[in-house]
Amino acid sequence: MTLRLGDTAPDFTQQSTAGEIHFHQWLGDSWGLLFSHPKDFTPVCTTELGYTAKLKSEFDRRHVKVLAVSVDAVDSHNQWVGDIAETQGTAVNFPILADPDRKVSDLYDMIHPNANDTLTVRSVFFIDPKKKVRATITYPASTGRNFDEILRVIDSLQLTDGYSVATPVNWKDGDDVIIPASITDPAVMKSKFPKGWRELKSYLRITPQPNK
Ligand code: BEZ
Repeated sequence: MTLRLGDTAPDFTQQSTAGEIHFHQWLGDSWGLLFSHPKDFTPVCTTELGYTAKLKSEFDRRHVKVLAVSVDAVDSHNQWVGDIAETQGTAVNFPILADPDRKVSDLYDMIHPNANDTLTVRSVFFIDPKKKVRATITYPASTGRNFDEILRVIDSLQLTDGYSVATPVNWKDGDDVIIPASITDPAVMKSKFPKGWRELKSYLRITPQPNK
């Protein structure tokens, strides 16, 4: 099933390294990050899961629950986490879903047959507390993802949910933001952006990040 932005993230029940997970129940009121890796005991995946584990405090601070998935079984995942601890210097502190029946991979369209017909690609689904898919990223097996970018996307989603702003190219938390072109009433502008703004073009207005 192809998932589009704004769709409800499909619910599922599946085994994981932390026991059975009922996805929507497990998410509760949190944001969710569901990401697939092609295969256990592979080098790029090993570095990705280690780095993600090291970011736990960053995900916690943003109220994001992290869940990895691959088509391997729980026994395999449990053996592999030992290697991740040994080589990446961190325990894996989030569950890894086991998806040998491809239930989750199929629900989230994580297997792209023209890339590989049995293994998942590197998909990322950003899911908000209403269980809506808010952003997705897809990389091939040979390209490890940038998890600092993943945190940056979460920061942008959470900021733009809370304030009437958009985030410009290469924005990171604390940088100036953009006032959407749809806001034109000067009184509304003044109340929403009390720190002021710079108008480079009528459609390009820059303001300090409102919550900083
Ligand atoms: C890796 O994680 O290194 C990997 C996994 C599957 C195919 C290619 C690379």
